[in-house]
Amino acid sequence: MASMKYYTVQPGAGIDGLTLQTGEIPEPGDGQVLVKLHAASLNFRDLMVVRGHYPGVAPGALVPLSDGAGEVVRCGAGSTKFKPGDRVAGIFMQSWLAGPMVDADAASGLGAGLPGVLAQYRVFDEAGLVPVPAHLNFAQAATLPCAGVTAWNALFGLSAVQPGQTVLVLGTGGVSIFALQLAHAAGARVIVTSSSDAKLERARALGAAAIINYSTTPDWAPEVRRLTGGRGVDVVVETGGAGTLAASVAATRRNGAVHMIGVLTMGQIDPISILLGGVLVRGVMVGSRDMFEALNQAVEVAGISPVIDRVFAFDEVKRAYEYLQAAGHMGKVVVTLD
Ligand SMILES: NC(=O)c1ccc[n+]([C@@H]2O[C@H](COP(=O)([O-])OP(=O)(O)OC[C@H]3O[C@@H](n4cnc5c(N)ncnc54)[C@H](OP(=O)(O)O)[C@@H]3O)[C@@H](O)[C@H]2O)c1
Repeated sequence: MASMKYYTVQPGAGIDGLTLQTGEIPEPGDGQVLVKLHAASLNFRDLMVVRGHYPGVAPGALVPLSDGAGEVVRCGAGSTKFKPGDRVAGIFMQSWLAGPMVDADAASGLGAGLPGVLAQYRVFDEAGLVPVPAHLNFAQAATLPCAGVTAWNALFGLSAVQPGQTVLVLGTGGVSIFALQLAHAAGARVIVTSSSDAKLERARALGAAAIINYSTTPDWAPEVRRLTGGRGVDVVVETGGAGTLAASVAATRRNGAVHMIGVLTMGQIDPISILLGGVLVRGVMVGSRDMFEALNQAVEVAGISPVIDRVFAFDEVKRAYEYLQAAGHMGKVVVTLD
């Protein structure tokens, strides 16, 4: 029987708890597909999983990571959607296909409620896969399922950002850089904050119309107001969390929208500012398969190349986690699985 390698970790065991395992390559069942995974990408959430801080994790050791891309090797009986050789990626929540998310979908997240993709082979229900854009290699395609879809959902999931509107993205992590690229491609004016001038210059090259260093300008909301002629931005992709929310609301125009995504900082907010500004504050939880397919279409038509900061080999997984944890990256951190 052919064998494969994969990693497991006990949530709470930390990065050092990541353990290389060897096992049999699984067989696809009815309606299922065996995928040879070539690349996986890391998200901040994967640090939360190893730290034991992520909700909805199945008991015991798990296969981590949600975002993987590879090629179909074998299709089980009754599986008609894909054929061997098709290039695919798994959707973040395996049961959330379309429409609004329901409670049960939360338990179907790869690398948390369900086994993840830090494995050389994985069987998926065919419904839990999407074809990947033709111009992307596997490393690039592996950046899409969480960061790409989340940015898409924030910008287009409830109502679509319009050409000429202004979008604020916080920091230069995976979600924020996808939001920059997608909003720019949609004709929006994008303002980017970062702790690093070097990253801000790279953001400008990716299409940012204005940049703010939040380390040297910690009170950045007035600067955003100034950059928008006093009006405020139409949309914030809020990856900072409680510690940045008050400034994000202060930087938003009357009746604008703040899409709550991140949990990177702690803090408090006075709800009066939300109320007085008529600001819509909306929680975003990644997105559905429909949204992933819409993202892929946009990525393909706009010719977007995901920004990969660094690629690590399969036996360098711990270093990849440490690299993400150090937050020196811009865009995505990827692991190859071959
Ligand atoms: N709700 C969802 O569905 C969902 C989906 C994906 C991610 N998330 C969350 O969104 C957040 C970002 O995720 P990610 O994977 O994109 O993370 P990431 O790639 O690890 O990005 C981290 C970056 O955030 C920036 N940052 C940190 N503190 C900041 C602050 N006070 N103000 C502005 N930027 C700050 C830094 O950018 P600079 O180095 O440029 O300063 C840092 O490099 C995490 O909290 C994650 O859990 C939620």
